[in-house]
Amino acid sequence: MRHLLDTRTLDRATALRILDIAEDMSDTQSREVKKLPTLRGKTVVNLFFEDSTRTRISFEAAAKRLSADVINFAAKGSSVSKGESLKDTAQTLEAIGADAVVVRHPASGAPQTLATSGWISAGVVNAGDGTHEHPTQALLDAFTIRKRRFGADSRGRDLSGLHVVIVGDVLHSRVARSNVWLLTTLGARVTLVAPPTLVPQNVSLWPVTVRYDLDEALADDPDAVMMLRIQLERMNAAYFPTEREYSRRWGLDALRVRTLTGDTIVMHPGPMNRGLEISSDAADSPRSTVLEQVANGVSVRMAVLYLLLAGEREDERGGDL
Ligand code: CP
Repeated sequence: MRHLLDTRTLDRATALRILDIAEDMSDTQSREVKKLPTLRGKTVVNLFFEDSTRTRISFEAAAKRLSADVINFAAKGSSVSKGESLKDTAQTLEAIGADAVVVRHPASGAPQTLATSGWISAGVVNAGDGTHEHPTQALLDAFTIRKRRFGADSRGRDLSGLHVVIVGDVLHSRVARSNVWLLTTLGARVTLVAPPTLVPQNVSLWPVTVRYDLDEALADDPDAVMMLRIQLERMNAAYFPTEREYSRRWGLDALRVRTLTGDTIVMHPGPMNRGLEISSDAADSPRSTVLEQVANGVSVRMAVLYLLLAGEREDERGGDL
């Protein structure tokens, strides 16, 4: 794997391979000594032009647990404020020795530009670009759903027969887009639930069902309900009902959680707006996988960095793990 830019073009075999390697990585994380020597001598640069908690520290933890060196670059406080371009910034980081660049950027397509422009030769991982994609978030979500459903028998399995309901601000959500492509590639059925103003205009081209009534969607007994953050910072006020109205109609609260049956899990990629799209009761309920998603993110990102940077040393993985 040269780069990981999206899930739209990720084939089923590669996606399953990432999830299966993440299973191996997850097993190593329960050991007393978590560190593996696999990427010793490699350098991973986290190149973040937008704020992040989970994704940045998770890539940092993943790289360090594989013994790579990590350089964290945040646009805030850097020479980007003096007008330095993405090209010059990336080339500067490569000159310092980057083997892989993990990019978060407000512009949709920025990681693709870095990967295909010829500016740098390092591998590129998309850590979230505009409203376009967030592929490692979708991979860790798929990993979490698979692990909850199949436990120790997860390896090699796809998500055929499972139903995932994604709720909220689909219009602005790169997490929703990446999940739609990945979950359906893996055989899951996806239902989107949102106010009509927060559904993308081209949604009829997506392999999903769209509903506007959350209670009806929850009554379908889905395997997972994935709540999305309301991205007020990307939003025109005309798109949005009042916060009170939104919570009443599309928020997940304790009453709605109590209507869930079977093993339905409650997911959220974070950061959460507690009290808006999800109540504290729902976020902290026994059905919630919010912190499991965070922990699984480290294993999934270890798998991605491994495939990007240790491909030529693949036969050593058995020994390393
Ligand atoms: N889920 C996610 O991308 O969170 P951060 O913005 O904190 O990285």
